[in-house]
Amino acid sequence: MTATHHDVREPDLEAVFQATIDADQRIEPRDWMPDDYRRTLIRQIAQHAHSEIIGMQPEGNWITRAPSLRRKAILLAKVQDEAGHGMYLYAAAETLGVDREELTEKLISATQKYSSIFNYPTPSYADVGVIGWLVDGAAICNQVPLCRCSYGPYARAMVRICKEESFHQRQGYELLLAMVNGTPEQQAMVQESVDRWWWPSLMMFGPADGDSPNTQQSMAWNIKRHTNDELRQRFVDMSVPQAEALGVTLPDPDLRWNPERQAHDFGEPDWSEFTAVIAGSGPANTQRLAHRRRAHENGAWVREAAQAYAEKHS
Ligand SMILES: [Fe+2]
Ligand SMILES: [Fe+2]
Repeated sequence: MTATHHDVREPDLEAVFQATIDADQRIEPRDWMPDDYRRTLIRQIAQHAHSEIIGMQPEGNWITRAPSLRRKAILLAKVQDEAGHGMYLYAAAETLGVDREELTEKLISATQKYSSIFNYPTPSYADVGVIGWLVDGAAICNQVPLCRCSYGPYARAMVRICKEESFHQRQGYELLLAMVNGTPEQQAMVQESVDRWWWPSLMMFGPADGDSPNTQQSMAWNIKRHTNDELRQRFVDMSVPQAEALGVTLPDPDLRWNPERQAHDFGEPDWSEFTAVIAGSGPANTQRLAHRRRAHENGAWVREAAQAYAEKHS
C-alpha cells in the first residue's frame, strides 16, 4: 500500500509509487499512479476483457451441435467461464475509473481491440479441442505471470481466471485424446485443425520483441514479467511433447530441438497476416463484431429493467 494523502507533493507520490513497484508490491485503486500507468492498464485489461467475451463465439458455435450430452455440458461450462472472465476483468478495469458501458461501446465500435485469435472460424468440431489445447494453453502462458502483475485488482482476477483456464486446456486435450484414438476420419480432423490453429496460436504472444515498443515500459512497471518471445518459446517447448503424445505434427518445417539452447528452434509466423487480422480483415472480424453488437442491442431491455429495479429500491 502507498500513501495518497493530499498534503503529499506530487514528486513524493511518484517516489512512493516507484518504491512500491521496486519492492514488488501491489498498487491498489486508491493509490496514486502515473497517468500512463493507468492508461496502459485500462487498455490492457479492457482488451483482455473484450477477448474473453468475443472468445465465447468461436466455440459457442458448437454448443447446439456437440456430439453428446457430456461434450455439451463441458463446452457450456467452458463458454460460461469465459463470460465470467470478461466480468471479472471489466470489474478490474472499473477500479481504474472507466465504466463497463464505455468499454463495451469501444468494443462494438471497433475502437478497442480484442485478441486476433478469435477472428478465425471454427468449421470443425476438432476446433473445440484444439482451441482448448493451444489457444487456452497460450492464454495460460501469457496469464500465469499476470497473477504477479503490480496492479492488485488485475493480479487477483488473474489467479481465479488461471485456475479455470487450466480446466479449459485439459478439456481440450482430453477431447483430442478421444478423437486421435477414434476413427481415421477423426484423426484427420484433429490434424487438419492443428494445421490451421498452430500459427495463429503463436501470434497470440504478440509481435517479436524488437517490434513490441510497449514491452519495456510494461516490464519496468511489473505489469508484464516476460517478453513476447520468451513466452512464445515457453509455449512451443510445452506444446511439442503434447503434440507427440497426441500423434499429430505441427506445421512448421523449421521446428526442431536445439541441444545447445536446450529449447526448440522454430519458424517465423506470417506477421503480415497478423497485421491484416488486427487491422480488421481476418476471416471472421466482421461476423464477430456484428454478433456482439446484436447481443448488446438485444440485451437493452435487460439493462433497462435492471436500472428501473435499482431505482425503485434505492
Ligand atoms: Fe478465459
Ligand atoms: Fe479459456
